[in-house]
Amino acid sequence: DIRLGIISALPEEQAGLIEHMQHAQSIPRGMRDFITGKLWGVSSVCVVSRIGKVAAAATATTLIERFNVTHIVFTGVAGGADGDVRVGDIVVANGLLQHDMDASPLFPRFEVPLTGLSWFAADLSLTTQLKHAAQQFLLQDFMQEINDADRAEFKLKTPRLHCGLIASGDEFIDCDIKLSSLKQHLPALLAVEMEGAAVAQVCHEFGVPFAVVRTISDDANGDAAINFTRFIEQVARCYARNILRRFCAS
Ligand code: ADE
Repeated sequence: DIRLGIISALPEEQAGLIEHMQHAQSIPRGMRDFITGKLWGVSSVCVVSRIGKVAAAATATTLIERFNVTHIVFTGVAGGADGDVRVGDIVVANGLLQHDMDASPLFPRFEVPLTGLSWFAADLSLTTQLKHAAQQFLLQDFMQEINDADRAEFKLKTPRLHCGLIASGDEFIDCDIKLSSLKQHLPALLAVEMEGAAVAQVCHEFGVPFAVVRTISDDANGDAAINFTRFIEQVARCYARNILRRFCAS
């Protein structure tokens, strides 16, 4: 039987989901509240991890070891790391890397020591399902679901779906210098955030299939903090609700 773990870093990113849980029951563990129940017919456990790789890794481990989830989806926002990736676009990860992992010269930069891996592949079938759900949201629900004021404020026109590399690190990227130095090493990078690759490593180690979907909240530049804050308050919940609703239906 499927039991889906759904992680978000912040309450604002989880907001669209928990209101729709049936038979919701909140169980505290390790300073987090794990909310069990049925989400659009799927047995689920929703949890806010808080920000950062350690918080995300601990949360994923608890979901697997204590709550016996069979699959994990991370849903939240990210900074756009490519000229083609704009605020309001959706990025589904096909692979994730910890951009602040650097044990060189002992191991190559980005490689997680003693795993032989620098990036972790997301589960193909979950990722395909999430891509379909995200695309359906953008094509069918977006105009009705996001109001004119929000579309104007964030200059959202016809947001697009991307699939590719997401990098995570314990650092909020908010200037061109930080971003361009990352891009120099990782030209294929689409988005930056602070949790996904940590969840990816834990899921890899436990053999649990996982996927990551991120809505772009900012361009990882000087305006990132302001844009991020407004975006998670105003729009993030709507993306989360609609993408996960369509995902659970599939
Ligand atoms: N999450 C959302 N925007 C981000 C950014 N610019 N850097 C890191 N994590 C983010």
